[in-house]
Amino acid sequence: MKQFPPQFLWGASTSAHQVEGNNHNDWSEWELRTATQKAYRASLHTFPEYITKRYPDPRSKENYISGIAADHYHRFKEDIDLLQSLNLNAYRFSIEWSRIEPQEGEWNEEALLHYEEVLRELAAQKIEPFVTLWHWPLPIWLRDKGGWECSKTPEYFSRYAAYIATRLGSHIRFWITLNEPEVYASKSYLLGVWPPQKRNYFAYAHVMKNLVRGHRAAYHCIKAVDPHAQIGIAKQNAYFEAHKKTLVNRLLCALVRWYGNEKLLNSIDTTQDFIGLNHYFHYCIHQGAICNNKAKKSDLGWELYPEGIYHVLKDLELYRKPIYITENGLADAEDMYRAWFIKETLYHIHRAIQEKVDVRGYFHWSLLDNFEWAEGFWPRFGLVEIDYHTLTRIPRPSCIIYATIAHNNALD
Ligand code: FCB
Repeated sequence: MKQFPPQFLWGASTSAHQVEGNNHNDWSEWELRTATQKAYRASLHTFPEYITKRYPDPRSKENYISGIAADHYHRFKEDIDLLQSLNLNAYRFSIEWSRIEPQEGEWNEEALLHYEEVLRELAAQKIEPFVTLWHWPLPIWLRDKGGWECSKTPEYFSRYAAYIATRLGSHIRFWITLNEPEVYASKSYLLGVWPPQKRNYFAYAHVMKNLVRGHRAAYHCIKAVDPHAQIGIAKQNAYFEAHKKTLVNRLLCALVRWYGNEKLLNSIDTTQDFIGLNHYFHYCIHQGAICNNKAKKSDLGWELYPEGIYHVLKDLELYRKPIYITENGLADAEDMYRAWFIKETLYHIHRAIQEKVDVRGYFHWSLLDNFEWAEGFWPRFGLVEIDYHTLTRIPRPSCIIYATIAHNNALD
């Protein structure tokens, strides 16, 4: 038995836009504009039958429109009951900025009360909330001002953070200001694959700067309301491995590790109380190219390499802060690998803990099947499957294994 520390948090994550349904923000508008083209592109690919037999089919337009999603906004009680039935004692979710502040400076009381109800329900079930303030979509009014390119956005963001802290702070101990700011900035402003689909290094650098400013300002606003609040970001760190450990490959790895994993964390070091780690990727680097062997892959073609998390955790020790794994998971519609993946990953997390890395919680991505951004609904990340015809929740076999581990606070 590999025992985890007492008080270890066993959780699952979601984000508002991916599960709530009926959001109106810059993403939902972008989805409507681009769905036909995405469906057409997908029709040129071959998908396995176990993907296309499910609804929605990746080659259909509806796959790319978040619409009612998993209707988590209305079914949150049922979903919190699910968390409880899985023995989980923590839940990471996000508050949707466009619901709270649909017009500039105007707060929507109804939306606020909704999130308060969610927090009350979690408290009633003794589930610790980890609240993300921004998990990518923007209110329309803010998009029209230029989103994170606008120099006033850090201020708008901290005003929103202060509002949530004042109104809901008494229910929240753990805060995540921004989800993967670096991933958002690069996909939206450098690679041009997410809204607003720019490919401009200067815009990207500017957005990164504003995101950091926004985080810092929000940190201070939340602390002013509650000095005991624990605040961090969710940072996506990959494991970069030097092929054959040659000197050149090791140097290249050190460089990409610094740029990809450390630079942003260094810049907010004095304004974070814990490290939120999202971990999905392993890159084996050989002379500037990636040479993974991908023995096992998820439905999205991402390599499944559970050992990677051990190395990433060891690297994070240098910050001397508590670490929560705020996301880790896989798209696996048939639930072929999920149980194996969870057990292996936890084995490597336990290994890091044995070596004194201060890991305090693990949140699987995701509690539910959800809307995976530009890919839409077809990648199935849920511990719990959603039947999108009926919105029925169907726990997958792997989640029973996760529930047992959480119950025992130990890995068999
Ligand atoms: C992360 C995102 C999350 C989800 C997973 C698969 O980068 O934070 O919303 O899309 O990837």
